[in-house]
Amino acid sequence: MLDRAPVAADRRYLDVVGVGKSFRGTRVMSGMDFRVERGELVSLLGPSGCGKTTLLRIIAGLMDADDGAVVLGGRDISRLPAHRRNVSVVFQNYALFPHLTVAENVAFGLRARGTPKAQIDGPVLEALALVRMDSFADRPISALSGGQQQRVAVARALVVQPDLLLLDEPFSALDRKLRETMQVELKTLLRDRGITAIFVTHDQEEAMGVSDRIAVMNAGKIEQFADPSMLYARPASPFVMDFVGLSTRISGKVSAVQDGILTLSTAYGTLSAPGDLPIGSAAQIGVRPELISLGAGENALSITLEDAMVLGSKTVLHGRAEDGDRILCELPGIRTGLSRGESVTLGWAVGDTLVYGGGA
Ligand SMILES: Nc1ncnc2c1ncn2[C@@H]1O[C@H](COP(=O)(O)OP(=O)(O)OP(=O)(O)O)[C@@H](O)[C@H]1O
Ligand SMILES: [Mg+2]
Repeated sequence: MLDRAPVAADRRYLDVVGVGKSFRGTRVMSGMDFRVERGELVSLLGPSGCGKTTLLRIIAGLMDADDGAVVLGGRDISRLPAHRRNVSVVFQNYALFPHLTVAENVAFGLRARGTPKAQIDGPVLEALALVRMDSFADRPISALSGGQQQRVAVARALVVQPDLLLLDEPFSALDRKLRETMQVELKTLLRDRGITAIFVTHDQEEAMGVSDRIAVMNAGKIEQFADPSMLYARPASPFVMDFVGLSTRISGKVSAVQDGILTLSTAYGTLSAPGDLPIGSAAQIGVRPELISLGAGENALSITLEDAMVLGSKTVLHGRAEDGDRILCELPGIRTGLSRGESVTLGWAVGDTLVYGGGA
């Protein structure tokens, strides 16, 4: 059921309620509840095939849900065709018309709505100015770089003043540098205009960088929906922990519980973590690598180094035990004198230790 308590009614904007979808008898989504507040930039983050595009298409009206409802601004739009929803979509492949100019591409949505000619040029130039492409208005699309085409696609989506903007991996075809520039530009643009948007990506850093909140999806379900820092610091499941950043992972078993602190026996000895699990149960223990330092801490373990990678801004230590646990430690800056085969002790705080019930 939808939890209605935390958000004041006037801030509620998009409500996806109990949406389900099957393709040829295979269920890819069921009971999907998803809420976006007015003016928020929310990312859908998850591995390939988890249902991100499906959810976006259902919200846009490009695909019918089998059950559930999509409510936008208090109005049930589930039965409205896509062109009457006032929801704009920017696709991964831009989907621009190559034989039209930049301005004609941006004008397309207004023309399709029957906007009088006199009311087209102004908004088109304004939308192009927003993405700093106004001086390219008369160029053919084929004479633009990938990043410029992506800007035009964003202008085309914005010119109709959508109630909701959906972006499906809009930057995935761009190189890393340009991607980062576009991320900052998009975020600033949406903030300044107060546009509510949903951004689909399977790139964790991109999601962390642009979003107010992130919904981590796995196999047609949202595993956690939280702001980036919460998601990183307090992942709700091992899946989220692994999907959002790297971590050291150790298997263990609960041997004692006292005052909210678990004692866990592991292949490396005893570790402690805040949590509440039954004695005797299997557990997965996680720590973010940058919270681990050289030398013993409240928690400590000794490993033989498999590798020490000096990356400039950080030095990454790798270790692995025979049972497959992955030990990762990131030390700030350049650390020399650590090499493969060396034994080291690593330590971290009990409060920084994540723990989940269940086996690996
Ligand atoms: N038209 C379709 N017919 C049959 N199956 C489909 C169709 N569209 C999507 N699916 C299936 O539904 C599931 C979700 O697909 P979806 O495209 O939503 O994933 P995604 O999260 O967007 O993945 P990606 O990151 O690769 O784009 C997948 O298993 C996919 O194979
Ligand atoms: Mg997709």
